[in-house]
Amino acid sequence: MKNILDFQPELLVSSPGRINFIGEHTDYNDGFVLPTAIDRKIVLKLRKNQSQHICNIHTIELGKTLTVDLTNVSKSSVEWENYILGVLNQLLAVTQKVQGFDCIIESFLPVGSGISSSAALECGLAYGLNELFDLELKKKQLALMCRDAEHSYVGTKCGIMDQYASLISKKGNALLLDCRSIEHEYVRLELLPYKILLLNTNVSHNLATSEYNTRRAECKQGVDFIRQTFPEVDSLRDVSLNMLEQLEKDMDPTIHKRCQYVIEENNRVLNAVKALEDGLLKSFGALLYGSHDGLQNKYEVSCPELDFLVDYSRSKDFIIGSRMIGGGFGGCTINIIHQDFIDKYVLEVSDAYKNKYGIDLSAFTVVPVDGTTHKYVENERAV
Ligand code: GLA
Repeated sequence: MKNILDFQPELLVSSPGRINFIGEHTDYNDGFVLPTAIDRKIVLKLRKNQSQHICNIHTIELGKTLTVDLTNVSKSSVEWENYILGVLNQLLAVTQKVQGFDCIIESFLPVGSGISSSAALECGLAYGLNELFDLELKKKQLALMCRDAEHSYVGTKCGIMDQYASLISKKGNALLLDCRSIEHEYVRLELLPYKILLLNTNVSHNLATSEYNTRRAECKQGVDFIRQTFPEVDSLRDVSLNMLEQLEKDMDPTIHKRCQYVIEENNRVLNAVKALEDGLLKSFGALLYGSHDGLQNKYEVSCPELDFLVDYSRSKDFIIGSRMIGGGFGGCTINIIHQDFIDKYVLEVSDAYKNKYGIDLSAFTVVPVDGTTHKYVENERAV
């Protein structure tokens, strides 16, 4: 791409980040999650470039261009490139219809903040190419392919939640996803007078990827152990607290804690859905606090900055629930806060956070939106 400013796209794709109300680290355990896409996104501008197999992908944020030859796609040593290359690798495995294209990526999603800029990037590209080259792949298939791209090219053994939420969410709703059947239903959100406030710790401890993969392995170790007594068990989804209690005395205490958290969190997701359906917002909020406690003490994927923010909210009766979101070790907390108190609270908590850690907090409200969307550009100069 010689001159980015002259770039005239054929297609614009809007690829949202996501939040998760509840159901953390349950997706790769065949469990339930309750995320939604949000009004913060990555925008991808795409066009075919008439070449057979040369693609140019430019990111505005980094000011870098990646040129890829589709006949020779392989892993890179540069992290952001692997999100692109991983998706291309997945698409090329199922179709020969992708040809040369140019793409400009503009991100409005802070990286490492737990709102899934990576899934938005992968899914936005996969969705855009599906559209541009008429690949006829369904959104669910795209979500699975993007997850696999992250496994094989990026190296995070993530679950399906982020990709699914980014692609398939529905405005005004949370998405209850059963990660075993990969089937979803929408749960109408009637939160007013409360709104969704995200507080970004602006820390991203580099434990995230290694500890994430370790948690996955610990859950598997738990399942292997439980199966010795209950051979019908395939995943933690099949284990009740009662079954786990019977095995506790023989189990490694760390593995026991991890399993207990996952089983409890699955129960909390279903209870949270019930609370939303019954309009019991305070009960919904209490479950969010319960989720954070589990993530902090049993699953041990929180960090002092996240705990500080959640603890800070506990004494405020205008906040009904708060917890960390995403993989952990940094990123954002979600806060369900009365709309009349947002500004005042943000000032107060930002001050307290700065005093404690010397770091500026970022705060923003979000609303649930539709998953990935696109529009074609006709003879129009868009930059
Ligand atoms: C990351 C992963 C998801 C999920 C969350 C934790 O965001 O990408 O698949 O496991 O962590 O709930």
